[in-house]
Amino acid sequence: MCGIVGYIGPQQAYPILIKGLKRLEYRGYDSAGVALMNDNQILNVYKAKGKVSDLESSIEKKDISGTIGIAHTRWATHGEPCQANAHPHYSSSENLALIHNGIIENYAVLKEKLQKNGYVFQSTTDTEVLVQLIEYIRVSHEIDLLSAVQLALRTVVGAYAIAILDRNNPDEIIAARKSSPLVVGVGDNEFFLASDATPIVEYTNKVIYLDDEEIAVINRNTGLKIVNLKNVEVDHAIQTVSLNLGQLEKNGFPHFMLKEIFDQPSCIMDCMRGRINVEANNVVLSAVIDHSERLLAAKRFIIVACGTSWHAALIGKNLLESFCRIPVEVEYASEFRYRDPILSADDVVIAISQSGETADTLAAIELARSKGAFIYGICNVVGSSIARATHTGSYIHVGPEIGVASTKAFTGQVTVLTMLALTLGRLKKTLSEERYLETVKELASIPEKMKHVLELNEKVKELSKPFTYAHNFIYLGRGYSYPVALEGALKLKEISYIHAEGYPAAEMKHGPIALIDAEMPVVVIATKNGMYEKVLSNIQEIKARQGKVIALVTEGDEIIANVADLCIELPKTLECLEPLITSLPLQLLAYHIAVCKGKNVDQPRNLAKSVTVE
Ligand code: M6R
Repeated sequence: MCGIVGYIGPQQAYPILIKGLKRLEYRGYDSAGVALMNDNQILNVYKAKGKVSDLESSIEKKDISGTIGIAHTRWATHGEPCQANAHPHYSSSENLALIHNGIIENYAVLKEKLQKNGYVFQSTTDTEVLVQLIEYIRVSHEIDLLSAVQLALRTVVGAYAIAILDRNNPDEIIAARKSSPLVVGVGDNEFFLASDATPIVEYTNKVIYLDDEEIAVINRNTGLKIVNLKNVEVDHAIQTVSLNLGQLEKNGFPHFMLKEIFDQPSCIMDCMRGRINVEANNVVLSAVIDHSERLLAAKRFIIVACGTSWHAALIGKNLLESFCRIPVEVEYASEFRYRDPILSADDVVIAISQSGETADTLAAIELARSKGAFIYGICNVVGSSIARATHTGSYIHVGPEIGVASTKAFTGQVTVLTMLALTLGRLKKTLSEERYLETVKELASIPEKMKHVLELNEKVKELSKPFTYAHNFIYLGRGYSYPVALEGALKLKEISYIHAEGYPAAEMKHGPIALIDAEMPVVVIATKNGMYEKVLSNIQEIKARQGKVIALVTEGDEIIANVADLCIELPKTLECLEPLITSLPLQLLAYHIAVCKGKNVDQPRNLAKSVTVE
């Protein structure tokens, strides 16, 4: 949801800002802009509708000099994507330029007040209201910029990560955050700002994650000072990030999504590294060991998440209930936060989020915390807001996920949930030693099995071609495969724009079966497990109505091969681990259909990777 970059130091800012925007483009890509202060104290602002490359071509031959600057890539909330609504926004005097990620909820009231005071607006954004408000406060109260920013931020309601340049103070950037991420990179006599560490790691691995309602004053001569909205200075330890640049490149793949699908065997190894000891047949999640008393005393688990992470949560429910015999509820974070849920100190809330920045999940955590629940986070982005807002947790360690469609994060989340259920199940003694050992051993073999599945890539590509013209798809699965069906449908709709629905297979006859005819492709997860016979009957019902069945089956299954139109054969694994295998061909299917349709799979329309607004 919008990417922010800033630079101040001895180097030319523009190349650093543009490169940074490209790294953050997954956060939003409907318009982009940059503000640069040149040596003559001229504050140049350039903006363009479209991608960062459109911004670059629009400013060829313009003055892009300057060693201090801020830049933004937008995912529109208030106002259509157009040049006027792109950031940075000038204040009326054009003395200030501001970029913003978040939403100013009370912008309408503030705008009306400013208009009554003679302020004229160039855009329909909430962001322009904020920069005008800061200028209004500064001028009317005759105070310095920092004080004006503090007052303005105490007036606004909503979420923000902002950075401001001031023509009258050419050696300083002021930046602040609340509920939207902001990282300060600390180099040698230079500082960087960004929505996450990815634009910074090329220059320094030393970062500071700002907390809510903190303001960074970054001055070329006096360095970095962090204060809160009441101007109390705040001390922050500098942290070291361990991202490497290779993780941020496509490495020869045509799209990040395909690279990330193929990354999965090694990512899942990374996720399990140091946690699974195959020789000792043992799983250790340090967060569980450190907080075992609290976790074992839980009367109930509630998992909160959104989108793909919510699908992983459904698999987590099956695992935790089966291995730990504890009731688990799975909630959309966006519903949970407004539902007045029944919560107590006996509950453990598990928050799952790849980005660790999803606004609804963060709000759900805050609510649960306020009711005394213990919060366990499962995140990918190290140091993210959710990772910091939880009592404890486990990173999935699958490396940066750049493609907007989540792939390796999903399997990473499921892997962590499996390890969590195994560890707790053994501690609670609700899981037999035999089942524990069998599952640990099989989990350790999943990366190898994933490699075999990925060898089917060409087959899936060929198979996908006739479906490029489909208008609808149904995905069916039962038990552990039902959330995989939901995830397969989500993958297809978000990148190919084909309407797709996932259902528990047995639900089909309660309504969706009415949709089935010769034009309807139905993807059925029909692996050899406890549900096999039932799912086979569902396939027969579809075929009886001329539906086109694409079945995911276990290697060597001839029965379904004789009934289904197309089969994808997958290596056998334990039923509870099947999502780690069956989700891969569905990711590939969605990818190839979308590529065949000529869609931008890494940056699908209307979407953004990190949903930091409601
Ligand atoms: O970063 P999070 O896991 O909290 O994000 C949640 C959803 O926005 C995300 O999973 C979304 O559904 C993906 N784009 C799906 O591919």
